[in-house]
Amino acid sequence: MSLTTDQRYTSVAVLLHWGIAACILFNLATGFFMEGLKGEAKHVVVSLHASSGLTVLALSLLRIVWRLSHRPPPLDAHLSRLERLLAEGVHGLLYVLMLAVPLAGWAISSASTRKGAGAALWLLMPLPKIGLLDALPLPQKVAAHDSAVSAHQIGAWILLALLAGHVAGALKHQFIDRRPQFARMWFSGSSSKV
Ligand code: HEM
Ligand code: HEM
Repeated sequence: MSLTTDQRYTSVAVLLHWGIAACILFNLATGFFMEGLKGEAKHVVVSLHASSGLTVLALSLLRIVWRLSHRPPPLDAHLSRLERLLAEGVHGLLYVLMLAVPLAGWAISSASTRKGAGAALWLLMPLPKIGLLDALPLPQKVAAHDSAVSAHQIGAWILLALLAGHVAGALKHQFIDRRPQFARMWFSGSSSKV
């Protein structure tokens, strides 16, 4: 079934959706195993994790600005009231966590009291720090670091759970209800809307 441009997201929204999704999947994958690494390998993986996470933060801000200035296509008319409520609720919470999880991660690096080289932005330059946290006196800095680690960990689990619900909803709609779900969040070929 082909969709009109009013039934699909704009190419910019599609590009941002899949770019952010790829970075978040990379972050979830590296986040859960990097603690077990040591030495240079750990420095490289933590640096790539932080760099990809800050990319999520920047792209999500852009995505939100784009979303506010370009009306998204209305949800598929075949969705039940409950499905509509769930889809909109999960999308809203995803936006919150797309900002909150990387911000908490950035707070961990900024309030770190570890000696030696910190994480590097795409392995090229020192990762910028949130000045307010970096400048805290030692006891507050340690407390801020520990709170950020907890917030980051809890946020990542909630993000993972929401993502599972989001993907399950998309798969159900595409393959069980047989609606053109993925085409809504994909490029439209010749008649693409910018
Ligand atoms: C971490 C990864 C992901 C995040 C953060 C994410 C986030 C979002 C958000 C916030 C929306 C709502 C867009 C809006 O109306 O502004 C959306 C829509 C959508 N996402 Fe994802 N997504 C992710 C991964 C995926 C994956 C893996 C799939 C495929 C199985 C997918 C399929 C879709 C589809 C089809 C839509 C369009 C929904 C509609 O309006 O019908 N997403 N996504
Ligand atoms: C969407 C973005 C992100 C996701 C999904 C994510 C996910 C995760 C996960 C799942 C963990 C392991 C949590 C645990 O079990 O302890 C983790 C740890 C960590 N993340 Fe992220 N992260 C993101 C962004 C960032 C950013 C932007 C930074 C830094 C700038 C960062 C720095 C860290 C650090 C330093 C740890 C290790 C924490 C510790 O000491 O236990 N993360 N992240």
